[in-house]
Amino acid sequence: MTKTAHWQDLGRKHLFQPFTDNAALQRDGARVITGAEGCHIWDSEGNRFIDAFAGLWCVNVGYGRHELADVAARQMNEMPYYNLFFKTLTPPVAELAGAIAEITPAHMNRVFFTNSGSEANDSVYRMVRHYWQLREQPERKVIISRHNGYHGSTVAGASLGGMSPMHRQGGLPIPDIEHIQQPYWFDEGGDLSPEEFGLQAARALEERILALGPDRVAAFIAEPIQGAGGVIIPPDSYWPEIQRIVEQYDILLVVDEVICGFGRTGEWFGSDYYGLKPDLMSIAKGLSSGYAPIGGVVMADEFAAVLAEHGGDFNHGFTYSGHPVSAAVALENIRILRDEGIVTRVRENTGPRFRDCLRSLADHPLVGEVRSAGLLGAVELVYNRDTRERFPNVGQTGTLCRDLALEEGLVLRATGDTLLFSPPLILDDQQMDEIIKKTKSALDRAWSQLQ
Ligand SMILES: Cc1ncc(COP(=O)(O)O)c(C=O)c1O
Repeated sequence: MTKTAHWQDLGRKHLFQPFTDNAALQRDGARVITGAEGCHIWDSEGNRFIDAFAGLWCVNVGYGRHELADVAARQMNEMPYYNLFFKTLTPPVAELAGAIAEITPAHMNRVFFTNSGSEANDSVYRMVRHYWQLREQPERKVIISRHNGYHGSTVAGASLGGMSPMHRQGGLPIPDIEHIQQPYWFDEGGDLSPEEFGLQAARALEERILALGPDRVAAFIAEPIQGAGGVIIPPDSYWPEIQRIVEQYDILLVVDEVICGFGRTGEWFGSDYYGLKPDLMSIAKGLSSGYAPIGGVVMADEFAAVLAEHGGDFNHGFTYSGHPVSAAVALENIRILRDEGIVTRVRENTGPRFRDCLRSLADHPLVGEVRSAGLLGAVELVYNRDTRERFPNVGQTGTLCRDLALEEGLVLRATGDTLLFSPPLILDDQQMDEIIKKTKSALDRAWSQLQ
C-alpha cells in the first residue's frame, strides 16, 4: 500500500470530516496535504498547488514562516500552558492584548480570548445578553443577523449565521435570533441600482427593529464583507445607513472580523475599511495566520466598562482562552504583518493590482461580475451576462470550475456559482498572475464543456 493509500484508508475508517459528504469521501478518498511554503501547498503524490484561498481564509503571512514555529517552540519549552482564570495571566497573553489594542480602532482596548471564530461569536452572544442585563434592560435579547451570513459552527455561531443547510441540521436557530436580507446586489438587486439596493437592504434592519420593538433588540451582527456567503461586497450606501440605524436605536454593533481582519481588505480591519464604529469585534483566523488556534472578542471601552465595573464574576471562559503558545504565535504574526508592511502593501499595491487582474476575466462568456476588496475577490458565473440569470442547476458550474482549477494546480473555493479568492497576503505579482492564468484556463475548459 502506498503512503497516500494508507492515510486515506485510516481517514475512511476512523475520521468523520467537517463540512464533507462523508459517504462520498468513502468512495473518493481525501487529498492528503503534506507540505506548504509561501503561497503553495503540495499533496502526498507530489502535486503542487497555488493556494488562492490561504487555507481557509487564514494563512495571511503565507506558509513556512519559521519565526512562528520558533516562538511556539520557545514558549512550549518555557511554559507550555497556564490559564487566565481566577486572576492569573501569562506574559505572551498580556503582550498580545496590548498589540491588539494598538491595531484595533482607537475606542476598542480590551480583548477576551477564545480558540476560534465560532467561540468568539458564542462569547459575543453571552456578553451582549449580560451587558443589557447589567444596563437593566434584560428584555433586550434579540440579536439580528443576516441570511447567508456566516458566524461559525457552534450552536450560537450557526444560529447567528444565516446558512439554511446548517439550520436544517439540529433545529437551529436558537430563539431570539432574527435574520434579515443580505446586501447581495448581484443575486437579489433586481432592477435597482446597487446604491438603491444597498439602502433597501440596510433599511431591512430598521424595519425589523420597529417590528420587534426597539426595546427588545440587543445587537446587530454582520461581517463587513460576507466571506463564506460569496465574498459579498455591499454597495457603498449600505454600511453608513446601518451605522445610522444602530446609533439611532441604541443597538450594539457587532462586526465579525474573522475573515476581514488582519489586513485582508488592505486595512487592519474591515471596520477601518468601511469606517465603522463597532461595540464588539470577533477575531480569529488571520490573528495567528492559522499557525495556532486562537480567536477573541475585542470590546469597545464603554462596553468593557459596563461588564468590568458592574458585572462581578464573568462566568464564561475556556481552558484554552489565551493559550500562551497560541498567544506567542499571534504576537509574532502581528509583528510580521506590521514590520513587513504587509497590510499597507495590500492597500497600495497588491489589492489594486488584484482588482485589475480580476477585471481581465470580466469579459469571459461565463462571467457576470468580478469584484474585490484588498485580497478578497469573487467571480460570478452566469448563464446570461446581461440579465444576471444563473444556470438552472446552481452550484454545478461553480463546482466544475473549482475542480478544473484543481487540475490546473490552483486551489480556490466555489459557493454556488461564485468563485472565491482569498490568497495569502504576501502574494507577489508572479503568483497573482499564476492564479489568474489558471482561473482563465479553468473557465475556458468549463465553457467548452458546457457548449
Ligand atoms: C466570518 C466568520 N466568522 C466566524 C467563523 C468561524 O470561525 P472558526 O471556524 O474559527 O470557528 C468563520 C469561519 O470561516 C467566518 O468566516
